[in-house]
Amino acid sequence: MALAFSSPAPRFAVSPSIPHTSPSNSFLITVPTPHRLRRCLRRGVKAAVAVDSPSAEGGGLPVESPNVLLEVNDLRAVIKDTDKEILKGVNLTINEGEIHTIMGRNGSGKSTFAKVLVGHPDYEVTKGDIVFKGENLLEMDPEERSHAGLFMSFQSPVEIPGVSNMDFLRMAYNARKKTEISPIEFFHFLLPKLEAVKMDPRFLDRNVNEGFSGGEKKRNEILQLAVLEADLAILDEIDSGLDVDALQDVAKALLGLMTPKNSILMITHYPTLLDLINKPGFVHIMQDGVIKRTGDRSLAKLVEKGGYAEISNA
Ligand SMILES: Nc1ncnc2c1ncn2[C@@H]1O[C@H](COP(=O)(O)OP(=O)(O)O)[C@@H](O)[C@H]1O
Ligand SMILES: [Mg+2]
Repeated sequence: MALAFSSPAPRFAVSPSIPHTSPSNSFLITVPTPHRLRRCLRRGVKAAVAVDSPSAEGGGLPVESPNVLLEVNDLRAVIKDTDKEILKGVNLTINEGEIHTIMGRNGSGKSTFAKVLVGHPDYEVTKGDIVFKGENLLEMDPEERSHAGLFMSFQSPVEIPGVSNMDFLRMAYNARKKTEISPIEFFHFLLPKLEAVKMDPRFLDRNVNEGFSGGEKKRNEILQLAVLEADLAILDEIDSGLDVDALQDVAKALLGLMTPKNSILMITHYPTLLDLINKPGFVHIMQDGVIKRTGDRSLAKLVEKGGYAEISNA
């Protein structure tokens, strides 16, 4: 069964179908069918980033190696039906509980990378592989990726006229958890999450994102993330257009959702959100379709001070 809504742009946070014909204006929530069998790669784990995971540092004491959540290996992708290559060999490993940030000039391929991870139909992977929780992501359609625990928040969250936020969230929850939770039960599940993202319960009765301010839309995205309890949240410029207070709310909401198991991959131009989150993490600089440098928050500060030229010349 599928419910179709019109929307100005595709989103993949919630059980999206593959919008074959018109990716820009169709959006479906589907009630899941049994998952197809997926081939488990059971590959060895390889660290692709140049910096040790903070959780792996242990002053000489033996520590358990962290569990790899996402491993991207030499990923190349073109715009569908063209030979225009945007991703030119991306390598990235994200372990459970880590926060990774991608920065980079406009047009360097950051959003494309995020979209390729969730299986956006505009792009075709030509080389490399993506392993998520031990499974080959490239063999899953976008809906399966969402059920597997990937969440993506887009730069401009879409409005869905005629569908209340509450219904939308409950359908999303049902699809992800493969259950049929009652509205009352769901409301009880939702209340602490609303609290965590500082969202007024009155927003539940309003149509999804309709008339929401920029900050409210972004918090609503985080509410969806909270409801779906995703393992990896990919946040593309979630801080764009937010005032300082809204930014602080977003940071608090994200912190409230962090567990030792789930991870965040965020794309941003500004280190402010990183400062507000104030947790150790990795910063990657993307340049012309590859991750050129990896470091910690000081790399973001370097960019803030000297621009990307500073990085390129280093
Ligand atoms: N669907 C598309 N059709 C045509 N060009 C695209 C498409 N997606 C991305 N591009 C191009 O790929 C490059 C990288 O874009 P993008 O990933 O959005 O960069 P960033 O998010 O780093 O600003 C840009 O030159 C952009 O115009
Ligand atoms: Mg972008």
